[in-house]
Amino acid sequence: MFPINRLSRLRRTHQLRALVNETFIDLNSIIYPVFVEEEIDEQVAIAALPGQFRIPESHLAEHVQQLYEEGIRAIMLFGVSKHKDEIGSDSLKENGLLARMIRCAKSAQPEMIVISDNCFCEYTTHGHCGVFNHQRLDNDLTIINLAQQAVICAQAGVDIVAPSAMMDGQVKAIRGALDESGFQHIPIMAYSAKFSSSFYGPFREAAGSALKGDRKTYQMNYANRREALREAAADEEEGADFLMIKPAGTALDIISDIQSHSNLPIAAYQVSGEYAAIKFAAMAGALDEKAAIVETITAIRRAGALIIITYFARELAKLIKTGA
Ligand code: PBG
Repeated sequence: MFPINRLSRLRRTHQLRALVNETFIDLNSIIYPVFVEEEIDEQVAIAALPGQFRIPESHLAEHVQQLYEEGIRAIMLFGVSKHKDEIGSDSLKENGLLARMIRCAKSAQPEMIVISDNCFCEYTTHGHCGVFNHQRLDNDLTIINLAQQAVICAQAGVDIVAPSAMMDGQVKAIRGALDESGFQHIPIMAYSAKFSSSFYGPFREAAGSALKGDRKTYQMNYANRREALREAAADEEEGADFLMIKPAGTALDIISDIQSHSNLPIAAYQVSGEYAAIKFAAMAGALDEKAAIVETITAIRRAGALIIITYFARELAKLIKTGA
């Protein structure tokens, strides 16, 4: 007896497969991370992220325009600072690198959504995400600074602030400060479940981070699913407008869980190590790069992320444009 149900009936031709396809990739919900370095004249290739560059600040306007023409609709800015100190004070200045990048990107292409990664690790000499006191990160002092940094970003014209320091109470502190300063309309994309992950390795080179050690006292233990739900619930209660999960590929279950527990838009960050793993495997001939890009992005969306931050954004734009 043959089975009555033959699921392969709907897979027989590409037209039938397209007819029943459930998950799509849309460039409108893709965010591209951009590394911007001050005081350099030429772009610098990031060895750990083949195909990615640190862009000189002086080329940022042109770069943003180029990305827009390629079909990128949202970028997240990371500064490579030459003015680091103990607390990352450059990022709190109206004319610091963070504020300048935002102003430059917005005036180059006002239609581009510009998102700030709100943290201090790019601007501190020790590479930690905030105020370091007696060998520990001081949560409550850090959120005061984060709130101030968010206001600086809003004044510079940012469209969305994305606090990534994983401090308790950071969303509430930022919401309060933005509202008090007349920026009630600026949304917060909270890095809600941000795991302490080896997959951030290449980013540390990309952003010129000085970190020695790890972030295990403030970023989450990747073994914990229920704790991730508490983090997401706390951020939602504190006024987050989006919930983000990071990394994406090692947390598809978390994306799915948070998506089913919340009605906020869900974002996921396909991080530097996920990108590098695919790139280097493809360079060695072990993987078909395009197929691996589409498969991983589709999987992240299928898990429940509407918005994806990925270093593959430009490749995706090209694939979508050429229909390949
Ligand atoms: C800043 C920040 C990091 C990443 C994004 N924002 C580094 C970290 O938390 O260690 C990592 C992104 C990536 O690996 O692509 N706190």
